[in-house]
Amino acid sequence: MSRVHSPSDPTPIQMDHVRLLRGTTIVFDNLTLRLNESRIGLIGDNGSGKSSLFRLICGLEKPQSGNVSVWGQDTQSKPAKRVGLVGMMFQNPDDQIIFPTVEEELALSLSPNGLSRKVNCQEARAVLTARGLGHWAERAIGSLSQGQRQHVCWLALMIASPKSVLLDEPFSSLDLPGRGMLDLEILKAKQQVIVSTHLLDHVRGFERVIWLEKGQARGDGDGASVCAAYEADVAARCQSDHLNID
Ligand SMILES: Nc1ncnc2c1ncn2[C@@H]1O[C@H](COP(=O)(O)OP(=O)(O)OP(=O)(O)O)[C@@H](O)[C@H]1O
Ligand SMILES: [Mg+2]
Repeated sequence: MSRVHSPSDPTPIQMDHVRLLRGTTIVFDNLTLRLNESRIGLIGDNGSGKSSLFRLICGLEKPQSGNVSVWGQDTQSKPAKRVGLVGMMFQNPDDQIIFPTVEEELALSLSPNGLSRKVNCQEARAVLTARGLGHWAERAIGSLSQGQRQHVCWLALMIASPKSVLLDEPFSSLDLPGRGMLDLEILKAKQQVIVSTHLLDHVRGFERVIWLEKGQARGDGDGASVCAAYEADVAARCQSDHLNID
């Protein structure tokens, strides 16, 4: 399997004996995972824990016990120590977007460079123009469609260019050309990319896919085998539901 880190680098993402409660739900209990591969898919039913896993890796959730680290930094360490290590594209773009216009939102991703907001807005505009999207620069985010907002979130993440990129249901609102474009960009990305999705064809070719079930890895291996195992399980469950209805 290809690695995104050299042997001397720390493990990109490491979770040890993690227990996570959200509300009164036990989402993870004693979950241990090492995520080294350059492309990893995350699949599983609604509520199986995919978004929660991403939130843990980004440090948005604190485990009740156990540890999560990214590139050697504990996710509960000071944010300044974790700049550039991990970034996430949220399932709902409105949870990610802060600024009113596209160029301001993209300029935020450049802000760690310490340059002025004006310079970063110009750079953001150049990125948009290079992609044939210059006309989006001054558009109000609220005037974009859901899929277009998802596109902006992807661009923001690419501009920030963290070492590990987490994409939570990134294809859900994209049209067919948008999905094809994102597949290609994922293929080309130099970073570690982890994709959570219900659209299995987007991760079937990945070197590793993890099938989460009730917060545990029910399947973990090459994308083709794990996707096939999940599909077979879903088919069997649908069949038994049909038998119960008949
Ligand atoms: N804010 C919250 N408060 C309480 N419980 C939550 C919260 N968010 C998620 N949960 C619970 O945590 C569990 C895991 O949810 P999570 O959102 O991680 O699942 P998921 O695999 O991403 O699902 P989906 O495929 O629907 O996106 C579920 O039982 C869910 O009900
Ligand atoms: Mg989710």
